[in-house]
Amino acid sequence: MNRWIFLLFVSISVLLSAYRLGIPLLHSEISIPKKWPKPNYDLSSKAISEEGFQLGRSLFYDPMLSRDSTISCATCHLQYTGFTHVDHNVSHGIDGRKGTRNAPALINLAWKKLFHWDGGVNHIEAQGINPLTHTAEMDNSLPEILRRLMANEDYQKRFQRVYGTSEISTAKVMNALSQFTRSLISANSKYDQVMRKEKGVAFSEQERSGLNLFRQHCVACHQEPLFTAHQFKSNGLPVDPLFNDLGRFAITGNETDSFLFMVPTLRNIEFTFPYMHDGRFRKLKEVIAHYSEKIDKENSHLSRELNGPIHLSDKEQKDLLAFLYTLTDKQFLYNPRFSFPKK
Ligand code: HEC
Ligand code: HEC
Repeated sequence: MNRWIFLLFVSISVLLSAYRLGIPLLHSEISIPKKWPKPNYDLSSKAISEEGFQLGRSLFYDPMLSRDSTISCATCHLQYTGFTHVDHNVSHGIDGRKGTRNAPALINLAWKKLFHWDGGVNHIEAQGINPLTHTAEMDNSLPEILRRLMANEDYQKRFQRVYGTSEISTAKVMNALSQFTRSLISANSKYDQVMRKEKGVAFSEQERSGLNLFRQHCVACHQEPLFTAHQFKSNGLPVDPLFNDLGRFAITGNETDSFLFMVPTLRNIEFTFPYMHDGRFRKLKEVIAHYSEKIDKENSHLSRELNGPIHLSDKEQKDLLAFLYTLTDKQFLYNPRFSFPKK
């Protein structure tokens, strides 16, 4: 065989097998897990360059973006907890000011169309403006942020390299941040490995029983493989008297949307406590106890996928918990690509 044809043949077969295994071919190339739905955002190297991703990462971890340079995105979105915070029920921002909601985990955002607990933000690149300017979060103004970035030689060079011009605009800052946040893909938990039928990985009897219970009682709202279908639902929590958060109603004004919240993903749920939009539960056991015994049948907002407490035995509660732990993806939580950037 002609040497060149042979080499071509070898490289095609390498590419094909890498594709089949879902191995990222380049450092910056993101592989979309097989059998997953199509993402809502472009994850190809056309939309996310290595330098764009790294710029977004630096911005995400940079407290300089907040008014007094004390708060970065990562203050409320810590990697090892699935990019949420664990020390408060609701978020704490600048000067210790409290927000009214629990910071959601930032996982597989590229599959979302609407953001925030009430879906009040409809584009990932628009989302960043919120925390940057929110008085209880980073409390800065966009012109001031652009001024600081322009005055920083390193940022100026990096924006130039990514976008081809030295001018730094809000749109570019938002785009760079989203190159990072869109890349936060978690798809390598034990659950994923079992679903991919990887060698040497299997559910224990307890985990399998938990999966069956999950598919019986939970999957209608927490659909696999993302563990949410991104719909607005009520799981029957009593209204929190402190915030009286109306959820989706605040955005649409439709009575039927009262107290509905975006169903959160359950990936890495072991580490993303506290739970629910107001962080009312610190332990997964409490969450399971809610579904098992505490759902109020008379709650007129309760979504029809649940029609009251599901009554799980002690053993079933433990099995379900064991299954939820299989959604932990250590590779994601400790991926050095997502951590504080070292210069
Ligand atoms: C003071 C804490 C705090 C800071 C700082 C913060 N966030 Fe958030 N983040 C939150 C809270 C709380 C929400 C939920 C808001 C809501 O539902 O109303 C949220 C929601 C989000 C979401 C939507 C997630 C989803 O699934 O809907 C994204 C994306 C996000 N933040 C990214 C960022 C970025 C990027 C920064 C930095 C520019 C940042 N956050 C800074 C607390 C914070
Ligand atoms: C009717 C749809 C629905 C069903 C069925 C459902 N959930 Fe949920 N789940 C939700 C909604 C909505 C939230 C967020 C509620 C809020 O914050 O007010 C949620 C939140 C959660 C959370 C907290 C996640 C976080 O990050 O804060 C966990 C854990 C959870 N559900 C587990 C389960 C389990 C386990 C089952 C089955 C026993 C289940 N869910 C069944 C709709 C549902």
